[in-house]
Amino acid sequence: MHHHKFNDFPSDFLWGAASAAYQVEGGWNADGKGPSVWDLFTKLPGKTFEGSNGDVAVDHYHRMEEDVALMAEMGLKAYRFSVSWPRIYPTGRGEVNEAGLAFYEKLIDTLLAHKIEPVLTLYHWDLPQALQDEYGGWEDRRIIEDFERYCVTLYQRFAGKVKYWVSLNEQNYNLTNAYQLGTHPPAVQDRKRFFAANHIAFLANARVIKAFRQHVPNGLIGPSFAYSPAYPASCDPKDMLAYENAEEFNNLWWLDAYCFGRYPQAALAYLRENGEAPEILPGDMELLREGTPDYIGVNYYYTLTYTDNPLGGQTLQRINTTGKKGTTPSSGIPGLYKTAPNPHLETSNWDWAIDPTGMRIALRRLSSRYGLPLMITENGLGEFDKLEAGDKVNDEYRIDYLRSHVKACQEAMQDGVELLGYCAWSFTDILSWLNGYQKRYGFVYVDRDEQGGSLRRIKKASFHWYSQVIASQGKQL
Ligand code: BG6
Repeated sequence: MHHHKFNDFPSDFLWGAASAAYQVEGGWNADGKGPSVWDLFTKLPGKTFEGSNGDVAVDHYHRMEEDVALMAEMGLKAYRFSVSWPRIYPTGRGEVNEAGLAFYEKLIDTLLAHKIEPVLTLYHWDLPQALQDEYGGWEDRRIIEDFERYCVTLYQRFAGKVKYWVSLNEQNYNLTNAYQLGTHPPAVQDRKRFFAANHIAFLANARVIKAFRQHVPNGLIGPSFAYSPAYPASCDPKDMLAYENAEEFNNLWWLDAYCFGRYPQAALAYLRENGEAPEILPGDMELLREGTPDYIGVNYYYTLTYTDNPLGGQTLQRINTTGKKGTTPSSGIPGLYKTAPNPHLETSNWDWAIDPTGMRIALRRLSSRYGLPLMITENGLGEFDKLEAGDKVNDEYRIDYLRSHVKACQEAMQDGVELLGYCAWSFTDILSWLNGYQKRYGFVYVDRDEQGGSLRRIKKASFHWYSQVIASQGKQL
């Protein structure tokens, strides 16, 4: 479908930008905060790029007002941020740490004073270390109660101020790294444990959505999902089957569980046959169906292309964390699928395919399968940026990326998708979990590298571009 004319973006469209607590805040032990699993994991040798960690990050904890002033100057309509669970409950439960709540309250109030809609993420991977130590975090059903108590604390405090909420950020990506690749804490490589932890996370997600209905009746809540739509490498039926397998195992496993309260059939049959299916107790699937979301948050960066992978073939491989282009190996599950390069697409220096049409496809697939509104909760380009003389950062490549993806949103809306907003990743530069500070995403450059820096904020070319996009309601791209 090629459209002749575009509809305008609706006047209440949420033009936003996003961040996550561990990636921006710093202040890792400030004002009573307890340690998260990331505070410990990043200190283990060899886990992150050049041993980078979020102890200071971009010091947003101490520069919140300056950062929000920049958002206001840009004209931002929405800001997505995450709350750090161990700031609120330093050991995961027990006594509330009032200073932690006060920080987020101040952030929310400052945003509202500038007419910026807060989009609050309840969990962006920084689990209290105490809960990991006590019962293995997401591997134990006790986390459901603890997570609910933490979320209800935030609902009660912020119900009147925050309308848009995100439950779990990228459960799929985070737990794949944590329990299959061994690249996020607790660095396990075990498929049975992976599916068990995911099942418990689905239950926790449903429980906090159920509780949300009581405490924030006028709000909207949904998970944000790392959606890399699958493509077949060719029309060879073997590749088509590999693509079907990949879509079920890598996407529908989460999306169907969240939105339909069930698991996709072929994937579930395969796991049962292999003894890797999660333990489903009476009442579990009912709970999932009672806790479905109001909207789906979509974190879209790239599509993945799949081809046949016979038994004995390619296994799961780690991602490129260096920015050395062309170093990402094919990754797969023998007997199901493996990734293949897409010859039609350019890639970033981290080998991520640049595919705005893929975003349109992503939005259409989700909207048509689940019939829910969508919000782009993340989309952006991680690249090396260069600070040039006169405090200039000419990130034209990022502008190109964002422009083509905003256009894809417009096309998807024309195709009938209900899209609430678009949150670019990220507002300021951030710590990229495994890629250090050299993989930059922000509209605002932060003067620091793996060793440190002045932390000065510098507006990039993309800052001015996005500002004009917002001011023109998407007419001036
Ligand atoms: C998502 C996360 O995986 O993508 C973000 O929600 C992350 O926290 C972003 O930073 C980009 O990934 P990366 O690995 O390039 O930082």
